[in-house]
Amino acid sequence: MRIDVYIDDATEPFQTITPPERFNLDTSILSDGRHELRLVAVDSDGATSERRVPFTVQNGPAIAVHGLRDNDTVAGELALLANAYGARAGDTFEPTRIETPAPIPTWAWVLFLGIFAWGAGYVALELEQRDALPLVANNAAVAATNTGATAADWAELGAQVYGNTCSSCHQIAGGGLAGVFPSLIDNPAVLDPNPTDHINAIIHGLSGKVIDGVSYPGPMPPFGGILSDEEVAAVVNHERTQWGNNAPLVTAGDVAALRN
Ligand code: HEC
Repeated sequence: MRIDVYIDDATEPFQTITPPERFNLDTSILSDGRHELRLVAVDSDGATSERRVPFTVQNGPAIAVHGLRDNDTVAGELALLANAYGARAGDTFEPTRIETPAPIPTWAWVLFLGIFAWGAGYVALELEQRDALPLVANNAAVAATNTGATAADWAELGAQVYGNTCSSCHQIAGGGLAGVFPSLIDNPAVLDPNPTDHINAIIHGLSGKVIDGVSYPGPMPPFGGILSDEEVAAVVNHERTQWGNNAPLVTAGDVAALRN
């Protein structure tokens, strides 16, 4: 097997190689412009096949222009930037020499401003939610002292407290993380008609308790100093009514009684 290598329409190969083999093509002997590399493989039976690779030679310096593209429609005065780069024959290729200092394109600015606006909006929304929390808590407190809480009063607050304070460990769907944070679905303390363990775990924290045969490596931190009686009652009721759980509800008074 051999490969005859031709340039353009030459009838004599400029190189004959035994594949696979490296060879050099010196473009400096070619004129600038379009050329074609033609490889003809000949096997031992004399059967041949041919492959053509068109290419362009430019041994002078390359030219880059920013500010005007092919066939642009323009008016008035144009601010253009031109750069030329090239290597003498035999120089090695240096990428930094072909970097033309172009201005930052408009789309990059638009993208940057879009991301910035999104970030600012996100922060504003976060702050708004933080302000809203004590407000809802106050409403619930008023309702609780007046008439006794109804479902609608604690439902929103309970979901909010759970989402902000508990879901990082017990997960928003209540399933916990196996072996790390217990599931609150069918959890004995959550389903217990006597809410003492459930409330105590939240206001005083919990560690070392074996739950359904599993002992958990880390403690549950206490939230008594962070959450009001109404907020604890609301999150307890949330857990007692979510994810298929169905256990008797508690009041802020039940929580207050276990504070000490
Ligand atoms: C930092 C992670 C973490 C956070 C946040 C957290 N818990 Fe826990 N929770 C745990 C761990 C760990 C346990 C198991 C502790 C043990 O068994 O000793 C647990 C146990 C419980 C239990 C079972 C109590 C029992 O006696 O079986 C309940 C109910 C509970 N958590 C509710 C909540 C509520 C409500 C919140 C939010 C106010 C909350 N948890 C926030 C980690 C957490």
